[in-house]
Amino acid sequence: MNPIENLIPNMPQETIEAFKENLDFSKRLMTYYSCALLEIETKFNVLNRQFSLEQEHNPIDTIKTRLKSPESILEKMKRKNLPLNIESVEANLNDVAGVRVICPFIKDIYLLADCLLEQDDVWLLERKDYIKHPKPNGYRSLHLIVETPIFLKDEKRMMKVEVQLRTIAMDFWANLEHRMRYKKNLSPELTQMLAKDLKDCAESSAALDIKMEQIKDLIEENAQS
Ligand code: GTP
Ligand code: MG
Repeated sequence: MNPIENLIPNMPQETIEAFKENLDFSKRLMTYYSCALLEIETKFNVLNRQFSLEQEHNPIDTIKTRLKSPESILEKMKRKNLPLNIESVEANLNDVAGVRVICPFIKDIYLLADCLLEQDDVWLLERKDYIKHPKPNGYRSLHLIVETPIFLKDEKRMMKVEVQLRTIAMDFWANLEHRMRYKKNLSPELTQMLAKDLKDCAESSAALDIKMEQIKDLIEENAQS
């Protein structure tokens, strides 16, 4: 007997087969998403190398990739009242594969987004500019949902990837805000006070991003080469 039959000895054989098939398909799908992450991460790494060669400036500080966990996938499917099957994950979720690109300056974000979207194997499905239009809590980032092919042994498969581009300051803020959001035992008074403080920090950090960029531009304009 193989491990699945051992775990559920009274399960009808067809149910076990269907379960295994589902498991196999979900494993395959997650592998495809991880391949799409590799593709998009490589595209950003290539752009970073080219810009550092030509302009002596790295537009990317860090790239992070993540695959959504099965628990988060399930939670989101339930929250959005979506059918709980693998086809529905692929059709309805845009953020199973996520790439976060952290840049020194705001200009770098738009430069990288434009360069990525100009490539002939990247299609834009959705763009949300929370830098030009920050969320009410102060959150800023540029979000792109893109589709790109992965090339398998005998097929080409289009995969969706969520790309978040932010400055170092935006990332610092978002990480702190995220930490507060998932602390369930904070009192409502403290949560409200922290939300106000975070909003103030978001504004200071947005001003800092602009000021730092102006300083960099001034240095570049005036430097003797
Ligand atoms: P959902 O994924 O269901 O939230 O869909 P959506 O289309 O409304 O997503 P949106 O593009 O607004 O945000 C997607 C991702 O951006 C989230 O999963 C977070 O990683 C990040 N994000 C969005 N808003 C916030 C925010 O207020 N704070 C922080 N820390 N992160 C955020
Ligand atoms: Mg979300």
